[in-house]
Amino acid sequence: MSKLFTSTKVGPYELTHRVAMAPLTRMRSDPGDIPNGLMVKYYTQRASQGGLIVSEATPVSTRGNGYAGAPGIYSDAQIAGWQRVTDAVHSKGGRIFQQLWHVGRQSHVDLQPNGDAPVAPSAIAAEGYAYTKAGEVPFSIPRALELHEIPAIVEEFRAGAERSLRAGFDGVEIHGANGYLPDQFLQDGTNKRTDEYGGPIGNRARFLLEVTQATISVWGADRVGMRISPSGTYGSMSDSNPRATFGYVATALDRLGIAYLHVVEPRIKGTEEIAFGQAPVAVQHLRPKFSRTLIAAGGFNPASAEAIVASGDADLVAFGRHFISNPDLPERLRQGLPLNAYDRSTFYGGDSQGYTDYPTAKAAA
Ligand code: FNR
Repeated sequence: MSKLFTSTKVGPYELTHRVAMAPLTRMRSDPGDIPNGLMVKYYTQRASQGGLIVSEATPVSTRGNGYAGAPGIYSDAQIAGWQRVTDAVHSKGGRIFQQLWHVGRQSHVDLQPNGDAPVAPSAIAAEGYAYTKAGEVPFSIPRALELHEIPAIVEEFRAGAERSLRAGFDGVEIHGANGYLPDQFLQDGTNKRTDEYGGPIGNRARFLLEVTQATISVWGADRVGMRISPSGTYGSMSDSNPRATFGYVATALDRLGIAYLHVVEPRIKGTEEIAFGQAPVAVQHLRPKFSRTLIAAGGFNPASAEAIVASGDADLVAFGRHFISNPDLPERLRQGLPLNAYDRSTFYGGDSQGYTDYPTAKAAA
């Protein structure tokens, strides 16, 4: 009997299976970063009875954006577009949380208001590329936030969470992973501050925890989740003691009572050792520190997903790339059907191709 297809709870919600859709930036919104009909179709295709979707990351401000075409949650005009998405998911019996995002330094002056420098805890640039309208360009050198500016960014998350509520989402997930702003504050490779937001872990975690509390003030703790990537180096991330850093965060979030912790797992390549440069921190390490729902993501296939929920190390598994190419992924896993291959070239931006044209198993048969 498959454990993936047994019921579980996320906050107040009963789910009938444990195959979640991971947050996936697809950059297909309308001008004004407004969700459109094509996006409604994409989410409708991927919704399932009793299933959980985490939306693509949505910037809480224009300064929080690093990807042209990413849909936002910083203007009231965006609410109506999202309402169509949430209505469609609900009409199929699914649940959807909105991922709240501020990219911090992972941006470019062309994406920033007035061509300003992106903001970060410290003025250290990441290696990598921002997606502007003119294509991929190296990240700009950020400006270190002044102490007095930080409360306004926490407020952007709170206001974004309030718009999520108005747009009909079931909850929100704070994007604390993948080297974006909360992660930049958290890890000591990117945070060289000497004020109360830098130095010891209690200070470096302050921003992430303030954002969590602001979000809880809108939703209540049981409809708030947090995504972290303790082993990730994407966005030039590093920490001198990731086990201590992320253990502290898991404990603090548990105390705040949030619904779930969503952990991007260390990637194993075949039989090889961990592909990351820093000590890996798997969901197994965090399980004793977090008493509610744990979602694992990153490199799962049907067998490894079944194994991690059967072991009890995770309650749900979130799939990214397989969900891009298999709109009916939960049903395919339930029936043990083969999966469509995904096409990387259509991941970021474009039209319906590689977005809403992947067939279900039924349609293919
Ligand atoms: C991602 N990922 C991601 N993560 C996140 O927290 N917010 C996001 O918006 C995105 N966007 C995104 C876009 C695309 C095209 C990919 C491929 C990935 C990471 C994603 O949620 C997941 O952690 C990884 O894809 C690893 O899981 P899989 O793909 O191995 O199941």
